[in-house]
Amino acid sequence: MQTAFASRLGIEHPLIQAPMSGSTPPALVAAVSNAGALGALGAGYLEPQAILDQAAQIRALGERPYAIGLFVLPDEFEADVAAVAKARAQLDALMAREGLDVRTSLPSRWAPRFSEQFAALCEARPAVAIFAFGVIAPAQMRELHRRDIYVIGTATTVAEVRAWAEAGADAVSMQGAEAGGHRGSFLHEAEDAMIGLFALLPLAVRAVDIPLIAAGGIMDGRGLLAAEVLGAAASQLGTAFLTCPECSAAEAWKRDLPLVEEHRVTTIRGFSGRAARGLRNRFVEAMPEASQGLPYPVLNALTAPLRRAAAEAGRGDLLSEWCGQAAGLVRPQPAAELVARLMHEYRLARRALAG
Ligand SMILES: Cc1cc2nc3c(=O)[nH]c(=O)nc-3n(C[C@H](O)[C@H](O)[C@H](O)COP(=O)(O)O)c2cc1C
Repeated sequence: MQTAFASRLGIEHPLIQAPMSGSTPPALVAAVSNAGALGALGAGYLEPQAILDQAAQIRALGERPYAIGLFVLPDEFEADVAAVAKARAQLDALMAREGLDVRTSLPSRWAPRFSEQFAALCEARPAVAIFAFGVIAPAQMRELHRRDIYVIGTATTVAEVRAWAEAGADAVSMQGAEAGGHRGSFLHEAEDAMIGLFALLPLAVRAVDIPLIAAGGIMDGRGLLAAEVLGAAASQLGTAFLTCPECSAAEAWKRDLPLVEEHRVTTIRGFSGRAARGLRNRFVEAMPEASQGLPYPVLNALTAPLRRAAAEAGRGDLLSEWCGQAAGLVRPQPAAELVARLMHEYRLARRALAG
């Protein structure tokens, strides 16, 4: 389905597979892009060399446009040593109680340096760059545009979409409160930026005149059409792609997704220190009090080995099972089939509405 947005990016469908850091390996990104939508590599946790390596793997799987997604963060983080020690003790005790043979350790750095990730992205030169958690600097925007990289910001409020428009973004992904994973908010507290997509999209359409992308709770072709009716130039789906065989989400997490009841999908800080939407599982319920005060990405780094071990042990109840509010609607199937199915459903829904 060709639209101005799709033509500009050189893709067939106005459909973006969300960059999901940790869950979007090159095989998934390439499968989506080769199917005519826009695959996106979530590179928020990747060191620069890994970004370059994975970008090369995507290119080797097909020469189609794809995106790289990064978190806009400072290069260095300070952590309160006493608070970290207290949180580690409580997290370790929780893992011991749960019978998981893993303990926290101090990483050499709390997160990869954004400036170095950004340089790697420029070198990889994907067709599209997607940013969350903040707005990039004017020099960075110029650098991306000089390389003809299309820039998509992420916003959760009208003030944030305005900030991205003023910064010169080519488009903005409007992340509704329904959305799975971390909140992209940067001007407001997460609690204040929980605007449902049905309210957020028309407000944003009125505020700016660049293309807007709908994100949050869209799982099928009806959702794509609804987003278009509300003014979106494209839709960005994350959770819908988590159950694809090409996705690297843990098997236990994939198994739990079709069974998710929406009232158990909640906002969680206890895995990473930043508000993110996911399933309220055993870890969330037993989350140690001390860890809750630690900021992102300090807590994220501390819990990373625990989540890896939980995934390896098949303990979905102890890992971060991020998902949007409509997760119960997932359809496990290969990514190319899912893209074709979504577009088929979209056309059917459009015809049905036209009567
Ligand atoms: C597992 C997971 C990881 C995510 N990681 C990122 C990320 O690295 N960068 C980003 O911009 N958005 C990330 N998101 C948010 C998505 O971009 C998007 O807003 C969200 O998936 C849309 O809601 P849905 O999951 O209901 O489709 C993530 C979402 C999920 C579910």
